[in-house]
Amino acid sequence: MREGKNFVYMAALTTSIGSLLFGYDTGVISGAILFVKKQFLLDSAAEGIVVSSVLIGALLGAASGGLLADKLGRRKSIIIAGMLFTIGALVAAVAPDSALLVAGRVITGLGVGLASFTSPLYISEISPSNIRGKLVSLAQFILTIGIVVAYLIDFALAPSSNWRAMFGLVMIPGLALVIGMSLMPESPRWLIDKGKYDQALLVLQEIHETKEQALAHVDKIKKELAEEKTGWHELLAPDVKPMLVIGALLAIFQQVTGINTVIYYAPTIFQMAGFVSASAAIFATVGVGAVNVAVTFVALSLIDKLGRRPLLILSLSGMVASLVVLAFAFSSRFSFTGPLAAFSLMAYVGFFAIGLGPVFWLLISEIYPLSIRGLATSMAALTNWASNFVVALTFLLLIAALGSTGTFLLYAVLGVAALLFVMKYVPETKDLSLEVIQQDIMNRFGAKPKKR
Ligand code: BGC
Repeated sequence: MREGKNFVYMAALTTSIGSLLFGYDTGVISGAILFVKKQFLLDSAAEGIVVSSVLIGALLGAASGGLLADKLGRRKSIIIAGMLFTIGALVAAVAPDSALLVAGRVITGLGVGLASFTSPLYISEISPSNIRGKLVSLAQFILTIGIVVAYLIDFALAPSSNWRAMFGLVMIPGLALVIGMSLMPESPRWLIDKGKYDQALLVLQEIHETKEQALAHVDKIKKELAEEKTGWHELLAPDVKPMLVIGALLAIFQQVTGINTVIYYAPTIFQMAGFVSASAAIFATVGVGAVNVAVTFVALSLIDKLGRRPLLILSLSGMVASLVVLAFAFSSRFSFTGPLAAFSLMAYVGFFAIGLGPVFWLLISEIYPLSIRGLATSMAALTNWASNFVVALTFLLLIAALGSTGTFLLYAVLGVAALLFVMKYVPETKDLSLEVIQQDIMNRFGAKPKKR
């Protein structure tokens, strides 16, 4: 049925396949690399390149994606992401040498980077505002499922050393994304921005019950656009800059508080904490993934009720506290180091999942003026991927230089900075129109909005 709320849910679910792949490709490498390393006799530098190739692709995908999303539209960009996933998976699965494997992973990464922000953007633009938070966060929920599915598939295929299947399986959801999105309509906001009012009206009629409501909606968006009149050249206009700062800093804080050291290196951390056997460490890792999924699910129902800011504040406070406990667990030489480390790691992931995880992607799909939304969102995503890359690259070096206690304390200090930033500068967006959000941002930065 392509009507009303059901239709919106269906479109959100279809788009979320992109997030499933984002999560899967984040998680799959941890298991696959063990076998790839053996097959191609990689030294540690080459291993690092294979592991980080997806991140490099994602960086490029996020960087170039803004252009695509604004010029070609959200829907076509997501279809392109699906194609990249499928081609990248195929190349990686059949790669005769490590160079082609890296090429395949970079292509997949392009899809990951592109889908990471176009999926939330598309969902945000087709959703009624009262359930926008929940629907956009659905993408984050499905992302967390993607990570666990990757852990489980790694686990299931490990006995047969079948790393080719670990990468190749992405072709199935990749194709599903291409086909599914081909059946979905374009974002009505993007259509109106491009002057395609009739098409936008048709889409809105599928989302809203009556023609009158849809017509009123077209008018409302038209009005918003007329007020904005922002072009790409205005990206650095005084009243747009604060929004870019919020997107970029939230992107950085989401990563430099350390989430992906846990997602990528959980088995290593568990082994450092005394879970000696690899299977115990992997089992605990699946536990981390499960907590991530379960708490993100809880966040879905809270995000439109409590709002974005309270969840962010709760999330960062809890992450900081858990990191301090984790640092303490590593500094103590007692027998409870292992259990305490495991507990605080789970708590840390849970606190990330209740706020910072979903809210970052949600906010960057909400706060920018429509005419520069694709570009601005892609810049925030790019910053997020670049920070992700730096943290992944430096984690083991930091452990060597500062020890695990020092490293987790460093993430805690950055968490405190993030908390202060959120309390002072990040606006509430729940149920609010762009105009009100923009005004709030200007007030927080003590600037006056420019008369357009
Ligand atoms: C982050 C990813 C992270 C994931 C974990 C996302 O919001 O952007 O970097 O791997 O959450 O659930």
